[in-house]
Amino acid sequence: MTSRKAIRSQGVDGLSAYLEEKRTLVEKALARFVSAASVRPSTIHAAMRYSLLGGGKRLRPILTLAAAEVCGVKDLSNTLPAACAVELIHTYSLIHDDLPCMDDDDLRRDRPTSHKVYGEGVAVLAGDALLTRAFGLIAGIKPAKCYPLSVLVEETAAAAGSLQLIAGQVADLEAEGRKLSIADVRFIHERKTGAMIVLSLRLGAMIANATPGQLKAVTQFGQALGLAFQIIDDILDVTQSSQQLGKSAGKDLKASKATYPAVIGLEASRKEAARLTRKAHTALRVLAIKSARLAQIAEYLLGRSF
Ligand code: IPE
Ligand code: IPE
Ligand code: MG
Ligand code: MG
Ligand code: MG
Repeated sequence: MTSRKAIRSQGVDGLSAYLEEKRTLVEKALARFVSAASVRPSTIHAAMRYSLLGGGKRLRPILTLAAAEVCGVKDLSNTLPAACAVELIHTYSLIHDDLPCMDDDDLRRDRPTSHKVYGEGVAVLAGDALLTRAFGLIAGIKPAKCYPLSVLVEETAAAAGSLQLIAGQVADLEAEGRKLSIADVRFIHERKTGAMIVLSLRLGAMIANATPGQLKAVTQFGQALGLAFQIIDDILDVTQSSQQLGKSAGKDLKASKATYPAVIGLEASRKEAARLTRKAHTALRVLAIKSARLAQIAEYLLGRSF
């Protein structure tokens, strides 16, 4: 399936084909890793599949696969469960993020949100089930010498937990309607979005038995890229249409959300995203990883329009 929402690049050497190839790999694995909609109780499996298989750029799993390759993995079959686990956690976070008690959104990935289709109860449970299934997938990974399974589980739990993703989401909710400093907004963005992007990269590197230098490089790359990614998300909410984004645009202003454009304006936000992307490149260069792919992906994401 070629989706309109696939990450595509224009004119970046071989990147377009690379992203398409990886996305196809991920889509097929995702469809395999979650129970069929016919399995009882079918409502929950249909709801999980509805949100998981209904589009999405698949940025995070692609980063996991790319990080593993950068650190020397050739056969990606053992990395795929980790890549998909990250996408399952991300999808759960989107289902819950859209609930009426959170951002109250009706549109996600070009379709009505989970609670609009299945009701709030099943939407909450579909999110819970995706998060839980993610840990089941991680349990099936054959770990590399230096990074036992317990480390992979601990890293994943930490990134998704109350000090990272959840911390960011809580701070995001509590910030609504309040005047924040840019440091406060950065705190939110690094946690609600940055943490899962860093995790995506680190899992790939750890499965590849990365050297400490390689792991540090992909971590620093992910920190800069993750913050840039959420700043761009904030910018797109202001500058794009709902149709273009496949989710409702213009909501951040209406809900008085803590965003970069709200605090420093659009132009300064664009500059900050560009600065962070350069910083991401530097993280790779300084530590001399053979990382052209990661650098290309960062550059592409800076210019994305959805
Ligand atoms: C949306 O993430 C939520 C944020 C963290 C900004 P994506 O922009 O990666 O959404 P999908 O996965 O492509 O739908
Ligand atoms: C969402 O941030 C972050 C997570 C889902 C953890 P947003 O609320 O800005 O994401 P969108 O814009 O709804 O995709
Ligand atoms: Mg939100
Ligand atoms: Mg939202
Ligand atoms: Mg947003």
